[in-house]
Amino acid sequence: MGNLNWISKILRFFVFIIIILAGWFTWSNFKPHPQRAPRSFPEPAKKYDLGKVLVIYYSAGGNTAEIAQRISTMTNGILLEIKTNKQYPSVPMFYAKVFFESKNKQYSEVEIPTFDLKDYDIIFIGSPVWMYTVSLPVLSFLSERDFDSKIVIPFGTQGGNSGNFFQRFALETKNAKLAKGIAFNKVSGTEPAVLDGQISVWLDEVEKEIAALNN
Ligand SMILES: Cc1cc2nc3c(=O)[nH]c(=O)nc-3n(C[C@H](O)[C@H](O)[C@H](O)COP(=O)(O)O)c2cc1C
Repeated sequence: MGNLNWISKILRFFVFIIIILAGWFTWSNFKPHPQRAPRSFPEPAKKYDLGKVLVIYYSAGGNTAEIAQRISTMTNGILLEIKTNKQYPSVPMFYAKVFFESKNKQYSEVEIPTFDLKDYDIIFIGSPVWMYTVSLPVLSFLSERDFDSKIVIPFGTQGGNSGNFFQRFALETKNAKLAKGIAFNKVSGTEPAVLDGQISVWLDEVEKEIAALNN
């Protein structure tokens, strides 16, 4: 009798947990992933003349957008955003959606801005790190492109581990001359001036690499 009482208590506990989890998933499915408010940055300490620059990116929450904007300001580049037709839901449903979409190789439908590769010398491409790799909207964009021997420079934003982000990027950028990319860590928790410093240190390297690739 005592044993049955315990089993019934444990079962009721598990049912309670399942109801809470199901409620949390349902609620997050209807709540769109939040966009971070833009922060103000000072005038950059240094500007770079890398030729005609395009900075194209996808950002679900604003971190990659922030880095893309800084790169375009520092390089006088044209800024273009890849958008998804439907907004992603909040976490944890966000993770579940990305997990199933990538498992089925069913990349999100994306709106890719039109541009002519011929108008640019250098293409920066930015993506958040999702599940240790490139985000689905950016994979979708890359799958439709041939980079025709242009210099392409990847950049990412991440929570702490970029996994195979840069290897995957290299695999997906057809006919590109790839320069060394970088993943920025915990962007929203990093002061604007510190971020600008990190971008500058990287762009100093990029500048040298581009000179070598062009020779
Ligand atoms: C679906 C999903 C998967 C993620 N996977 C990773 C990951 O594998 N490694 C990591 O370091 N951060 C991961 N993150 C954190 C994001 O890469 C990080 O917050 C990024 O800056 C978000 O960029 P955004 O604001 O431009 O969308 C993930 C975030 C989401 C929403």
